[in-house]
Amino acid sequence: MHVVSSVADVRRIRRELAGSWGLVPTMGFLHAGHLALVERAAAENDHVGVSIFVNPTQFGPAEDLTAYPRDIGRDLELLREAGADLVWTPPVDEVYPPGYQTYVAVEEVTKPLEGAARPTHFRGVATVVAKLFNVFQPDRAYFGQKDAQQVVVIRQMARDLDFPIEIVVCPIVREPDGLAMSSRNIYLTPEQRAAAPALYRALCAARDAWRSGEHDAGRLRQIMAGILAAETLAEVEYVSAADPITLVELEDAAAGALLSLAVRIGRARLIDNVLVGW
Ligand code: PAF
Repeated sequence: MHVVSSVADVRRIRRELAGSWGLVPTMGFLHAGHLALVERAAAENDHVGVSIFVNPTQFGPAEDLTAYPRDIGRDLELLREAGADLVWTPPVDEVYPPGYQTYVAVEEVTKPLEGAARPTHFRGVATVVAKLFNVFQPDRAYFGQKDAQQVVVIRQMARDLDFPIEIVVCPIVREPDGLAMSSRNIYLTPEQRAAAPALYRALCAARDAWRSGEHDAGRLRQIMAGILAAETLAEVEYVSAADPITLVELEDAAAGALLSLAVRIGRARLIDNVLVGW
């Protein structure tokens, strides 16, 4: 496995190893969800590239950029076992050199949900992912469904900017009690960790209601909010039943919906979602 930090080295190795390439962009502190992406990429491509970069432009000024968990030694061991061929671990000024001034702004689909709570987040995500696509020039790129809006934004960007890259979306990997795996789960104290499965319980209750014929989207949002309200440590930012493509809130969910939510528990801001009817 090659571990490199410069753009030039990624490009050189990419050229030297012929065949198809899958890219797994990450911010490191890897968990089973990331490894599932790497394994899928390894199964579908001749070579797998992984980036480990805590991207400063996708963090707001009051967010957890400096506290974001990092463990590069462990990440590299896990990636070697999972079958990665090339890992890019750039310093910040390799991605954003002095004088950097170009950003990618995806418009409508970045406005609601995470975009409303984190106004500069998707500009940072779209910019760094566009750069990763340019540097690695992969055939396929792998993302987790957990960041459902990120997937919508990246698909839109790849389409609008004509990146000839297949965007592959992999299912959410969950702990046995339903909590979606996330590097930020490390912020939870034991008491907060015990409260966190309320997110998935809320989503499952709304999904069950939808399957039983409840297609009033307002009612589905109420069901999720009601379950979260019973968890005293959970501070709800939003509950949503939206169109999975446009992310506009629905009134009638008969054709299906993206059910999603964002909740603060202690210092962790957790997000999760399920798709119904899709
Ligand atoms: O999902 C993430 O970890 C990040 O948003 C990504 C796609 C690696 C861009 O920094």
